[in-house]
Amino acid sequence: MKNFVIISLLLINTVYAAGDAIAGKDKAIHCISCHSIDGDTKIPIYPKLAGQHEMYLIKAMKAYRDKTRDIPTMYTIAKKYFNDDNDIEDLAAHFAAQNSGSCIDTPQTTQKKVDEAKIIACEICHQPDGNSVLPFFPKLAGQNKEYLIRAMQAYKNGERQESQMSQMALLFGDDTNIENIAAYFAAQKPDTCE
Ligand code: HEC
Ligand code: HEC
Repeated sequence: MKNFVIISLLLINTVYAAGDAIAGKDKAIHCISCHSIDGDTKIPIYPKLAGQHEMYLIKAMKAYRDKTRDIPTMYTIAKKYFNDDNDIEDLAAHFAAQNSGSCIDTPQTTQKKVDEAKIIACEICHQPDGNSVLPFFPKLAGQNKEYLIRAMQAYKNGERQESQMSQMALLFGDDTNIENIAAYFAAQKPDTCE
């Protein structure tokens, strides 16, 4: 039964995400300065998009465009470069198809912080190593540590609202634990490395 549900969900994803990755690469020219052409940005405050689930990327772009995730920089970019669902799907297909290079990056963190992270219940959705399997749970493995800290703080202080994560934010603990959790996921090997 469980496998059936998972397979059905994956099929839904295939039908839903009809983007053209080649067209998406051309459109990604406007994303280079922050995310880099392959989405594997080394600038720690920006999220890596390489190898992220296509369905989640689509959701995130629509949320910026529709201001349900209210970030002025991304809203301006959305209005200029992906106001149209077609552009969103093409961009998502391009970035989802890239490999994250985090497997060969210098670690963004210390082993001590990784060891000290108190991670409660994240694995149900994100997997123990942050390589989420289901397409609507974003992958956290190898994500930039500074961005992960920012994302968690935004859920915690209510700036970013989403039913599941706004609840989970109650379990994040203090700033030190948030940093340690971010360090833990940033240090995991993305599944696109294999
Ligand atoms: C000026 C820098 C800048 C440029 C250019 C830019 N972004 Fe972003 N992007 C950001 C920042 C900052 C965030 C994180 C915002 C937040 O905290 O929600 C972000 C977040 C995202 C996310 C969400 C990632 C996640 O893990 O939730 C997606 C998807 C995204 N950008 C796509 C794009 C695309 C596609 C383009 C090009 C059309 C683009 N961005 C151009 C700065 C930029
Ligand atoms: C019940 C499922 C579920 C659980 C459990 C869960 N998450 Fe999430 N997580 C999600 C979903 C869904 C999203 C995307 C939400 C959105 O669109 O803003 C998300 C997004 C995130 C993001 C933002 C990623 C990005 O690219 O912007 C971070 C960071 C995160 N989760 C950390 C955690 C941590 C840390 C835990 C454990 C304390 C946790 N999550 C537990 C479902 C879950």
